[in-house]
Amino acid sequence: MKKIIIAIDGYSSCGKSTLAKSLAARFGYTYIDSGAMYRAVTLYLLNQGVKVEESLSVSEALKAINIRFAPNNHTLLNGEDVEQEIRQMAVSNYVSEVAAVPEVRRAMVSQQQQMGAEKGLVMDGRDIGTVVFPKAELKIFLTADPDIRAKRRYEELLHKRQDASLQEVKANLAHRDHIDSTREDSPLRKAADAIIIDNTLLNREEQLERAIFLAQQAGA
Ligand code: CDP
Repeated sequence: MKKIIIAIDGYSSCGKSTLAKSLAARFGYTYIDSGAMYRAVTLYLLNQGVKVEESLSVSEALKAINIRFAPNNHTLLNGEDVEQEIRQMAVSNYVSEVAAVPEVRRAMVSQQQQMGAEKGLVMDGRDIGTVVFPKAELKIFLTADPDIRAKRRYEELLHKRQDASLQEVKANLAHRDHIDSTREDSPLRKAADAIIIDNTLLNREEQLERAIFLAQQAGA
């Protein structure tokens, strides 16, 4: 069977990783959460007290950072499982500033491209179809109504017993979408050949069914 690359991009908290994980499981592909990599860099900088303006310290930090994924998809930062910590609001509140730094992007994109060398990959993020894998056989651009996105993320955080209010979550999503879409280096954009799925009114199964159909058409 031919193996392909599936790129999923879209706004904050519109269900990219849920879809990407299920698609990867369905086709026996590897799943990579590129956002988790930016979150891990952010956690490291926060822990070291490094600000994004301090470019020398950011460069040093990038040299010291090793990001891997465990078989259960948990994110490992220098060997330590940081899956819980990178989802906290403290990280969400700074990650878009960190992800706008060109040097950070260069480092992450090069690692992501290496991960895709084998194909049979689903990767989700903001620039996967435009920059990381511009030749991906299938590109999906996910969208959903902002209120629905905020409600879904708030409930996810509640479920994980993480402290945040609905208002705070909504403001954070708007803030990140603004920075992610307006930054100079690889802003969030729909690739010209990406297919839009608006999942405002779709449940997980309906969304997955559409994506499986598209993946099969693309040769998966
Ligand atoms: O899951 P959620 O939609 O909240 O975000 P994420 O995928 O975990 O990504 C967190 C942040 O990382 C985004 O808001 C972007 O600032 C950044 N990011 C990026 O710049 N490029 C990517 N390919 C993935 C994430």
